[in-house]
Amino acid sequence: MKISDLIDDRPDAGVFRVSRKIFTDAAVFDAEIRTLFEGGWVFLGLDSQASDPHDFFTTFAGRVPILVQRGGDGLLRAFINSCPHKGARLAQVRQGNARLHVCPYHSWSFDSSGRNKAIKWKAAGCYSEAFDREDHGLAVLPRFANHRGFLFGSLVADVPELTEYLGEAAKLLDLVADQSEAGLELVPGQVTFTYEANWKLQLENCSDAYHFTSAHPSYIRVLERRQQEISGDVVASVWENSDYWKEETKGVGGGSFSFANGHVLNWGVFGVTPAIPLYERAGELAVRHGEERRDWMFNMRNLTIFPNLQVAENASSQLRVIRPLGPGLTEMRTWCIAPKGESPVARRQRIRQYEDFFNPTGMATPDDTVSYENCQIGFASPQQPWLQGYSRGMTASVQGGNRFADRIDLTPERSVLADSQLCDETLYHSYYRAWASRMAAEFPA
Ligand code: FES
Ligand SMILES: [Fe+2]
Repeated sequence: MKISDLIDDRPDAGVFRVSRKIFTDAAVFDAEIRTLFEGGWVFLGLDSQASDPHDFFTTFAGRVPILVQRGGDGLLRAFINSCPHKGARLAQVRQGNARLHVCPYHSWSFDSSGRNKAIKWKAAGCYSEAFDREDHGLAVLPRFANHRGFLFGSLVADVPELTEYLGEAAKLLDLVADQSEAGLELVPGQVTFTYEANWKLQLENCSDAYHFTSAHPSYIRVLERRQQEISGDVVASVWENSDYWKEETKGVGGGSFSFANGHVLNWGVFGVTPAIPLYERAGELAVRHGEERRDWMFNMRNLTIFPNLQVAENASSQLRVIRPLGPGLTEMRTWCIAPKGESPVARRQRIRQYEDFFNPTGMATPDDTVSYENCQIGFASPQQPWLQGYSRGMTASVQGGNRFADRIDLTPERSVLADSQLCDETLYHSYYRAWASRMAAEFPA
């Protein structure tokens, strides 16, 4: 198999096609795990998941279990969550607080800085001097970095600095982080679910404006009914009074930005409206960050940081971690992400809107996951090997940003401005160009 059998990228000919094989093939999946998930930066969690000394949380980088823990000295560290004795997974739970981790298999113990504290019956163990010279602490994750509370790690040391990897897309994480001076938190109540389809279907769907009216009719009907019920007392939005957004958004519903290394954003004009829980802070955020950045915090924004992090700020605000388990099996870990210190009224609004839309019990997530599974079933076909879902927006995509990007000094590699029906598909090209360049070591051109 060659890369060109998997991704057909010929910009001059106006062609971008993706082979069904990349969603089903076991060799492709193994290469993805090695190259993308165990061979470079992946998102691990938020620093607020371990805010106090000895707090910890566990996650995975590809297949490898990871333990992120704050030591007694207040420093966050990331370790391989595997006992050096015989390799057993050490911390078994998703999160907790522990000064000491005692391995359940033979009781070796480790402090919250990863140092070995005790080896059971050490004195009687007749160990060699060579053994005594070895470090019996937990292995440290080779790279670990914090961008504004978003923690990333890499199982290989030879990667660019995180700031370089995130590039301009870091500014979009900042738009999330800047919503509160106190930082971000995950609302208690994590949801984990699996779906029987490839991980890249989730990657794409987050940026897929095209499916919304087709796949989510019941959610749209509920919104319409509510709108009728409350239309009498809707508060005039700041946006309605803002000349800038009125003028500049004529005929524009939103668009997309593509960045280096596979990060993308699709966005829509929401305006500063009380439909967003952040509304209570609209004035304060404009003072602190300027009106342009404040307005952008209110826009609908679905951000993907390749390969495993998505922050969706649409109906509510969701943080997602994508964990591939097999070519046709994916685990999703999802949380409601929120600015710390928002009022109980705003928090309640955020959670209610979250419950409406997200999670296996919400009105949108099941529509999406069923669609992923239908795609996976359809991928069994060897006919029409090249999928055609990467072509909308081809003639609208331009190099660099646009007037909306300029408002927040954002310089994407490419951008598209869209009306409500364009629904750009060229932003997926960014995923697959990053994918192809990193997979090139596994599959020749
Ligand atoms: S595997 Fe951990 S103490 Fe034996
Ligand atoms: Fe959806």
